Amino acid sequence: MVAIQALLFGALAASAVAAPANPHDDKGNHGRPVSKLPLVNSKALQSSIKIKELMKGAQKLQDLAYSHPERNRLMGGAGHNDTIKYIKNTLESLGGYYKVELQQFSTLIQLSEESSLTISNAPVQHGVMEYSPSGNATAPVIVVNNFGCEASDYPTTVSGNIALISRGTCDFGLKSVLAGLAGAKAAMIYNNIPGGLNGTLGVPRAEGPYIPTVSLSQEDGTALRTSITGGTAVSANLFVETVITNATTNNVIATTNNGLQNQTLMLGAHTDSVAAGPGINDDGSGTIAILEVAKQLAKYRVNNAVRFGFWSGEEEGLLGSTYYVEHLPAAELAKVRAYLNFDMIASPNFIYGIYDGDGSSYNMTGPAGSAEIEHFFERYFKSNRLPFTATEFNGRSDYQAFIDNGIPAGGTDTGADRVKTAEEAKIFGGTAGIILDPNYHQAADTVSNLNQTAWIVNAKAIAAAVAEYGTSFKSLPPKEAPTKKRSMLPSVRETSAKRRVSRKTMKSYQ
Ligand SMILES: *[C@@H]1O[C@H](CO)[C@@H](O)[C@H](O)[C@H]1NC(C)=O
Ligand SMILES: *[C@@H]1O[C@H](CO)[C@@H](O)[C@H](O)[C@H]1NC(C)=O
Ligand SMILES: *[C@@H]1O[C@H](CO)[C@@H](O)[C@H](O)[C@H]1NC(C)=O
Ligand SMILES: *[C@@H]1O[C@H](CO)[C@@H](O)[C@H](O)[C@H]1NC(C)=O
Ligand SMILES: *[C@@H]1O[C@H](CO)[C@@H](O)[C@H](O)[C@H]1NC(C)=O
Ligand SMILES: *[C@@H]1O[C@H](CO)[C@@H](O)[C@H](O)[C@H]1NC(C)=O
Ligand SMILES: *[C@@H]1O[C@H](CO)[C@@H](O)[C@H](O)[C@H]1NC(C)=O
Repeated sequence: MVAIQALLFGALAASAVAAPANPHDDKGNHGRPVSKLPLVNSKALQSSIKIKELMKGAQKLQDLAYSHPERNRLMGGAGHNDTIKYIKNTLESLGGYYKVELQQFSTLIQLSEESSLTISNAPVQHGVMEYSPSGNATAPVIVVNNFGCEASDYPTTVSGNIALISRGTCDFGLKSVLAGLAGAKAAMIYNNIPGGLNGTLGVPRAEGPYIPTVSLSQEDGTALRTSITGGTAVSANLFVETVITNATTNNVIATTNNGLQNQTLMLGAHTDSVAAGPGINDDGSGTIAILEVAKQLAKYRVNNAVRFGFWSGEEEGLLGSTYYVEHLPAAELAKVRAYLNFDMIASPNFIYGIYDGDGSSYNMTGPAGSAEIEHFFERYFKSNRLPFTATEFNGRSDYQAFIDNGIPAGGTDTGADRVKTAEEAKIFGGTAGIILDPNYHQAADTVSNLNQTAWIVNAKAIAAAVAEYGTSFKSLPPKEAPTKKRSMLPSVRETSAKRRVSRKTMKSYQ
């Protein structure tokens, strides 16, 4: 990814390597030697998590959002920067219990788009591919062969003209790059299933620059293709204007100084919201819950190191967590024994979801150990006499980069934009036929719309998991042989691209 640079990361790798001799090893809460603290205990840690404190944290995040005109915590904006400061300060106020680091990165984000498209002088409904550059092309339309995933699919006549390409086989970004390399001024990608299409090219990539790219429905695209291949010359005017800016932001990474650093439990939640609102369930709920667990954990000693990842840029495409994993040296990645993700855990029309690590519900297993993590959370809900259901590993939250690198993953959620079924309404209460969080990505994702029952249940589940794995990993099978670290660059991420959808826009890459 071209826009990304590591700035402050070296310290993490270096200090982790030196862990056993770390002079901070004995730092406990407010300087009390950690060796004098009791070993973390599940019941005690769980009961230290109080809804009142969680609500205070949620209110704090909302206040930070509302103290700026944008009233959100969008990545790189003032409300989000304040969130990061608040998290960092909170963790640093725990007397040196955690090593707290900011991991800065920069990335391009698209702020706005405008467009028009006329084909043979008639306006045509279309979408603008996210990250399309601006442009205004008037030129003949040329049909590209196959799916436009190979340079050889582009006839020489594409040069100086507008390429018409079918969706399929490779991601949209590659098609735009290849069309540009063939000399096209602009590209139109049409759907390969009935209906309209909206997608993202993904952030600019190494293979070459994008050209202005729009999307068409299958109906319009195939009609156009048939007409052109039948011998009719067709001209189009395609105008796109996008505003794309380079934003700088930070992940906050906090690791206990005590505990074995070579078998670290990692937990994560995302600190950014979408532009529409303050993002208090999504993902203030996960952020505040792991932060509260981090605060309470500082009263205990752990056997295994525990690391909290407060991810930036999740809504812009899992940017912070992907950046973290991609920039973690292989030797450090090998020390991350498991990853737990908490994204939206106080949804108003909630279900109790547990990531489907064993694949029993969605036929997609996580790396070895993910099944045991799912079963751990199942036992937690069972012992609290609460129902639960499986949540698909669908690539829509920050666990993805960990899974892609062989790290067992799990966690809980209470649902986003999926409609509650009648059966789920019977089991969990709430309203069938509406989505699990009716305020999903809306201005109304506020403190007053959290379900506090769901939140405290899930926050205590986090505490239980931290106590379990902070004490021992022996319930997990050996980690899979270190998989070759997979780059997320589009050319090699094709197998996972099918599942990848931008959280912000719900746009697919392929
Ligand atoms: C974005 O800004 C960062 C920090 O100033 C810089 O290092 C990076 O090269 C910029 N990226 C792009 C694509 O302009
Ligand atoms: C937020 O912080 C980043 C640096 O991390 C900075 O580049 C950006 O300008 C800040 N945003 C605002 C609105 O101050
Ligand atoms: C695009 O260019 C054409 C001329 O090629 C011009 O008539 C039209 O106004 C331009 N559109 C925009 C939105 O600038
Ligand atoms: C694509 O986006 C446009 C503009 O936002 C919208 O009107 C249209 O309904 C979307 N189409 C699909 C298939 O999502
Ligand atoms: C981690 O380090 C400890 C102490 O140095 C050692 O006993 C243990 O075998 C190591 N565990 C792993 C998984 O490497
Ligand atoms: C589960 O997925 C595998 C491939 O990953 C496939 O071979 C198998 O048929 C699938 N099973 C079901 C029940 O869908
Ligand atoms: C949260 O959910 C519980 C259980 O369904 C319900 O009793 C309660 O009224 C809900 N609370 C809020 C604030 O919506």
